[in-house]
Amino acid sequence: MFNETVLKEIEEIKARYPDRRSALLPSLYIAQREFGWLSREAMESVSKALNVPEARVRGTASFYAMYKHKPVGRHLIQLCTNISCMILGAEKLVDFLGTKYDVQPNGTSRDNRFSLVIMECIGACGTAPAMLVNTDFHDNLSEKRIEEILDKYK
Ligand code: FES
Repeated sequence: MFNETVLKEIEEIKARYPDRRSALLPSLYIAQREFGWLSREAMESVSKALNVPEARVRGTASFYAMYKHKPVGRHLIQLCTNISCMILGAEKLVDFLGTKYDVQPNGTSRDNRFSLVIMECIGACGTAPAMLVNTDFHDNLSEKRIEEILDKYK
């Protein structure tokens, strides 16, 4: 269940639109921020806050890859292994993440620090390999650079 502060935030978003269903995507984002992922309980909370049927909430959430449908680590790494990144060593970086940080594609490290998802091109082919950590963009990746970057995500 959302706390009062979050409910107020959702009310403010709802007020921007003539149809409350238009507030569904930002409300799901807020639910994900609050609960860490979109559990059934999180989606029920969105349904109640917007007075939108749960089936519509679940149908909308399942359509978008940006929503997490299972628990993830404290930090989500999204690494591109598409052609430019692959040519410049992204697959070696996947192995490095497994060895150094105990995280495999579509998995979470045992310390729950990182989850890893393999992405298609994220539009940084000129400075590949590239990844997102949570919403932060990083490029020109190497093993050393990944260590420097991930040091900041405890
Ligand atoms: S192929 Fe990786 S960013 Fe384009």
